[in-house]
Amino acid sequence: MEKKKIVCVMGTRPEAIKMAPVAIELAKEEAFDVRVLATGQHLEMLDQVIDFFKLTPDKNLRVMKDRQSLDYVTSSVITGAGEYFDAVKPAAVLVHGDTTTTFAAAVAAFYRNIPIGHVEAGLRSFNMRLPFPEEMNRVLTDRIITWGFAPTQLAAENLIAEGIDKDRITVTGNTVIDALFYTIGKHIKPESTELNALPKDAPFVLVTAHRRESWGAPLEEICKALTDLLEANPSLWMLIPMHKNPAVRETIHKYLDSYHRVVLCEPLEYPDFVWAMNESKFILSDSGGVQEEASSIKKPVLVLREVTERPEAVEHGSCILVGVNRDKIYKEAMRLINDKGAIQAIEKKCESQPFGDGTASLKIATVLKESLF
Ligand code: UD1
Ligand code: UDP
Repeated sequence: MEKKKIVCVMGTRPEAIKMAPVAIELAKEEAFDVRVLATGQHLEMLDQVIDFFKLTPDKNLRVMKDRQSLDYVTSSVITGAGEYFDAVKPAAVLVHGDTTTTFAAAVAAFYRNIPIGHVEAGLRSFNMRLPFPEEMNRVLTDRIITWGFAPTQLAAENLIAEGIDKDRITVTGNTVIDALFYTIGKHIKPESTELNALPKDAPFVLVTAHRRESWGAPLEEICKALTDLLEANPSLWMLIPMHKNPAVRETIHKYLDSYHRVVLCEPLEYPDFVWAMNESKFILSDSGGVQEEASSIKKPVLVLREVTERPEAVEHGSCILVGVNRDKIYKEAMRLINDKGAIQAIEKKCESQPFGDGTASLKIATVLKESLF
């Protein structure tokens, strides 16, 4: 029997983390010839993940440029992925999530009539501009899929409400939980020397922020709230692994460079970041993946966004939507710091695992096997 070529596409850090377990699971199956196409929308941040999960891309388009525009990434990925698909002739292409890589690679596959599987299909904020441009990317991608791998029942319902045939949809859980369990199972000690700047046993909050719609004034508000927290809590430390984007770094440096209790560091290797999530008092973040992971490890997250496409995490209790207002961020964070029972109450409430049990990749592999043979 001829092996079926499956191309797993990844371009950014979160896509690689969430696609890695899928590629690993598919590779266990004799019937598949699994290829990883890295678009290189991210470079260092993608390589970090690819190395950790020991993936070997069949091709890396390395499209990234400093301060790249959406037009540039979209057009480069459509062209590069299209040429790659012409050469490889895959039986199926898998894309993940909502990035420009996701959308552009799906378009290139669609132009060649290659069936598309969308991992993490069906997330919706119902606001085309929040997050921007991710809501558009995922909505348009879902119009052209053969298989929709919805992480939750709610995501599946979103797809059905948009008229997508329910036979195309499988509720799988989120593959980030597979990645998280895989990583926790390795019991890796943190390696980043930058973490040494954090005093042993010092209470710290973990902060990440990078969203395009937060660049400028909203990120300034976030940083001002962080300085308020530092002033009000003389023993509190902050760990901020900075996204590589210079537009983000400039603002963070401007507000936080002068605080010795702030550890500004490079993006952490995935296991080190998992360690930091676990060890922190709580997390402030605008990240999508972090909301899901924190739900699984029952760590409170103040979500630095006006809306979330992951209402399950808010319902679950681990995530609290605080937006980008300085006072609101400060008040919610102070509540978690001062009210001794607040964090315990959140942990107690978090009984379910809204994003699955770590078997999403297996479910995806099973669907593909049944469909392609
Ligand atoms: C992208 C995704 C976003 C995702 C985020 C994850 C889009 C439109 N946005 O946003 O959905 O949440 O990745 O992190 O697809 N850079 C580097 N090295 C790297 C990575 C980025 O220097 O390894 C810098 C470059 O200057 C690059 C800039 O960051 O031009 C922005 O990267 P880009 O992928 O366009 O946007 P992100 O904000 O990272
Ligand atoms: N992450 C990481 N190192 C870091 C920061 C985040 O490995 O320094 C991981 C995090 O655990 C999560 C993912 O990267 O799995 C989130 O990526 P990001 O916030 O860049 O994107 P988003 O999830 O918002 O699309």
